[in-house]
Amino acid sequence: MVRLEVEVGGLRLRNPVMLASGVVGVTGKLMMRAAEAGAGAVVTKSVGPERRAGYGNPTMVEVLPESYINCMGLPNPGIDEFTEEIRVAKRGGVPVIVSVFGGSPEEFAVVAEKAEDAGADAVELNVSCPHTEVGVLEREPRVVRQVVEAVKKRVGVPVFVKLSSNVTSIVEAGRAAEEAGADAVTAINTVRAMVIDVETCRPILSNRFGGLSGAAIKPIAVRCVYELYEALKIPVIGVGGIFSWADAVEHILAGASAIQVATALTKGFSVFKELVDGIRAYLERKGFKDIREVVGAAHV
Ligand code: FUM
Repeated sequence: MVRLEVEVGGLRLRNPVMLASGVVGVTGKLMMRAAEAGAGAVVTKSVGPERRAGYGNPTMVEVLPESYINCMGLPNPGIDEFTEEIRVAKRGGVPVIVSVFGGSPEEFAVVAEKAEDAGADAVELNVSCPHTEVGVLEREPRVVRQVVEAVKKRVGVPVFVKLSSNVTSIVEAGRAAEEAGADAVTAINTVRAMVIDVETCRPILSNRFGGLSGAAIKPIAVRCVYELYEALKIPVIGVGGIFSWADAVEHILAGASAIQVATALTKGFSVFKELVDGIRAYLERKGFKDIREVVGAAHV
């Protein structure tokens, strides 16, 4: 029997396949469904200190097969209202990781503390949304450090930091997070992108710019996971373009201790079981006993 349990930054998961922050994480009931469908952990939609409407439509467009650009604009009800969704999500029986954002280190800390009080098993700091003011935080490693330090002072649960490739060096951002005490990094957020309608001669998305997710970004994500694994001591969680067990294994070989899926949910909740079964079958076929044997195995 192959062992699929992993430990990521102090969090124990029954398997390494997590729900990524995104549309499914807006309600506790949907997160429960992900857990029932086999997810090893769930990450909520990003939540901030106050209610936020997000951008007007259109906010999402398919640009390539299995690849989308979105500019939701971090819509959320604010942490005080969202605590009820966290409580419901906990009934799923798997760790609930609350994705947190704020306008300053103090705001991140306040939201993270409220998330922990509501039962969050960990927080994932979103410093990298590519189409809102939040994304600029990641460009300054000094600011990433300040955000992580502020949150670490206020919460006892593990702190993950979500990074993107929209910076000169994701490794520098990762190092800043690690030095400030982060327990893991998640890579990558969506890739800043845009699409223009040739008939109207205008950008399609209301915000002009958005974040590209799905199959198109997998090679970028794998490169980032690989670089972070080489540079950091803390675990890396891989996300970006994972639809099949082979995509997941690629991230794991690059150095991901666990992986997250979001865009693949367009195919339904069955993706969790398919990925877990596929990873298990791969490990068995290759003669491995424990998934940890292959984490980072692509490094020579
Ligand atoms: O707009 C959004 O809600 C997306 C957030 C992100 O990519 O971090």
